[in-house]
Amino acid sequence: MDSHSPPLLKVEQLSKKYLTKKTLFKKEFFKAVDNVSFSLDYNQILGIVGESGSGKSTIGKLILRLIEKDEGKIEFEGKDIDNLSRSEEKKFRRETSVIFRTQNILKSRFNVYQILEEPLIIHKFPEKERKERIKKAIVDAGLDESFLSRYPSELSGGQRQRVAIARAIVLNPKMILADEPTSALDVTVQLQIINLIKKMKEEKGISFLFISTRSECYWYAC
Ligand SMILES: Nc1ncnc2c1ncn2[C@@H]1O[C@H](COP(=O)(O)OP(=O)(O)O)[C@@H](O)[C@H]1O
Ligand SMILES: [Mg+2]
Repeated sequence: MDSHSPPLLKVEQLSKKYLTKKTLFKKEFFKAVDNVSFSLDYNQILGIVGESGSGKSTIGKLILRLIEKDEGKIEFEGKDIDNLSRSEEKKFRRETSVIFRTQNILKSRFNVYQILEEPLIIHKFPEKERKERIKKAIVDAGLDESFLSRYPSELSGGQRQRVAIARAIVLNPKMILADEPTSALDVTVQLQIINLIKKMKEEKGISFLFISTRSECYWYAC
């Protein structure tokens, strides 16, 4: 990347308020995100650290366009994500994924293979390629192929989070939003998951927006 290339993700003066109370005469708002700017480079892990309720997840939801911003601008690879063509939109969806603290998808009745297959079906990958990518993703996430036929209820917290990471990498994304990916885990397992995230950055060049209430990512020199 030369110095003139845009960063992978650029967030400029982002603001979001939530409507908290509405009566006939007045509306009350809560400002969850107020004038936030930052950028995330290719092959970088950036920590967003703040106490609970400080608006971290709101920033994540705005970037993934799960909710609408009030003000500001978000660019992915130099393009305003509000003005993408249909094909650019598809590319954006394929190149960004997310890992949450608790994985609702993992409470599902699907087995691990089916959980990893879903994004590949959505993005219309042929069956043979789906199979290859699923096998690679599970191994890259530090589990072996025998886990593919297991169900989430049969896995430990750390194994479940590895499945979540496998699902997040199965489309070869450029960016993963990790929203408190280790908060629900035991301390020893937290370190394993952080090391896995570092490995994904180093080996695959994936950038991470790492949301946390603690600066754990920095302790381990991400
Ligand atoms: N849909 C919503 N409606 C109203 N308030 C909300 C909504 N979502 C979040 N909030 C409030 O916005 C603030 C920031 O929330 P959030 O972004 O989830 O913080 P964090 O992830 O840092 O804990 C909190 O005070 C939360 O209660
Ligand atoms: Mg949160």
